[in-house]
Amino acid sequence: MTTLAAPLPSPNLALDQLVAERRAAGETLVHLAFGEARLPVLPQLAEQLAKGAARAAYGPVAGGPGVRTAIAGYFARRRLPTNPDQIVVAPGSKPLLMALQLVVPGDVLLPSPAWNTYAPQAAYAGKQAIGVPVPKECGGVPEPCALRTAITSARAAGRDPRLLVLTLPDNPTGTLAPPDLIREVCALAREKDLVIVSDEIYRDVVHEPAATEFLSPAEVAPERTVITTGLSKTLGLGGWRIGAARFPAGERGRRLRGGVLAAASELWSTLAGPMQHVAEYAFGEPPEIVERLRASARLHGAVARAVHRIAVDAGALCRPPTGAFYIYPDFEPLRPQLAARGVTDSASLARRLLDESGIVVLGGHLLGDDPGALRFKAATSLLYGDEKGQVEALTADDPVRLPHIADQLALTAAGFARLTGRRAPAHHYPEVRR
Ligand SMILES: Cc1ncc(COP(=O)(O)O)c(C=O)c1O
Repeated sequence: MTTLAAPLPSPNLALDQLVAERRAAGETLVHLAFGEARLPVLPQLAEQLAKGAARAAYGPVAGGPGVRTAIAGYFARRRLPTNPDQIVVAPGSKPLLMALQLVVPGDVLLPSPAWNTYAPQAAYAGKQAIGVPVPKECGGVPEPCALRTAITSARAAGRDPRLLVLTLPDNPTGTLAPPDLIREVCALAREKDLVIVSDEIYRDVVHEPAATEFLSPAEVAPERTVITTGLSKTLGLGGWRIGAARFPAGERGRRLRGGVLAAASELWSTLAGPMQHVAEYAFGEPPEIVERLRASARLHGAVARAVHRIAVDAGALCRPPTGAFYIYPDFEPLRPQLAARGVTDSASLARRLLDESGIVVLGGHLLGDDPGALRFKAATSLLYGDEKGQVEALTADDPVRLPHIADQLALTAAGFARLTGRRAPAHHYPEVRR
């Protein structure tokens, strides 16, 4: 008889469940463990969903021509001329990422740390996930020298790395790899003949787009880069499950897309018709969508920067966030003080924050990072409160001064400071006394 190891649920979803249960039991928790852009659904999106309700037929696996044309236009406005035949839509980008891992042979190279889903997907696809440390200045992309060494060692050990996943901007570090680094990594991918998957689900959550240069690997290595994206993060529609992929033009792109479509035809058939209707409208970027993207990126930036400051003031090293809604502090400078309190690795660090201060974070060990490091991911997008609070936050001049957000930040500051037996600096959200 064969016994199958029971796979564990994704740790962020498991923690989200834990928070729901403990809150229902009356506990006050600061939830920094789930990367959901919790913002109200834009009314025009709900209208489009209702209008699309009659689209009940299965339709083409890749998605209908309307939605694919709209997505081709979205990419064209981002310096990536695209034919609708290069596009596939799906119920979220997660299944597209899974299908890509099934279709591209060989092993997969991941930045370390990385979003917690890539490595389990690799395991489901029978691949080895090879983690390569990210540079000091940003995450989402492996450090190029370390990447070269990892490929050489893996090949010498009989492994066959053929796929490289990049996250731009990055979950978990909340940073965006700069153009020079993208060029260097793309040159190496070309030299080593790797397929690049550029996960750009946070592309429109760059905090200061006018001051930030976004270079997609698809501009540098167009023949080998597949981009995945979706509306879960940018428009807070995670539960609607709208994702898309853009494949390279040319022979290699056609083969990859054909493989993904074959997998899709057996796994999910197509994106639900009403969601295709929503996607066609949203990727068309009418003014109200552009304005919502601008307002939410600004809010995500303001709150992520506030939490970054709290972490740094508590004594952590932390890359300043520039995109998405995460920070990734490193408490290494406080190792002696933490060790004296029994905190010696990322698991005990996350556990201590929960037990001592009711702060829920995702330890770096769950993201492919060195388990002995004192690092965790803090997602900052669940700090905006209930629907009324979210609406206020989207329009406030200084959202971190809104009492319901300042309250969460004050709890976070107190908890981070308590880790090392200190009090939070008095300047942190003084209007909230705790
Ligand atoms: C980096 C990254 N990629 C992809 C996804 C999946 O998004 P979806 O399947 O909702 O499109 C997430 C969600 O957390 C993410 O953080």
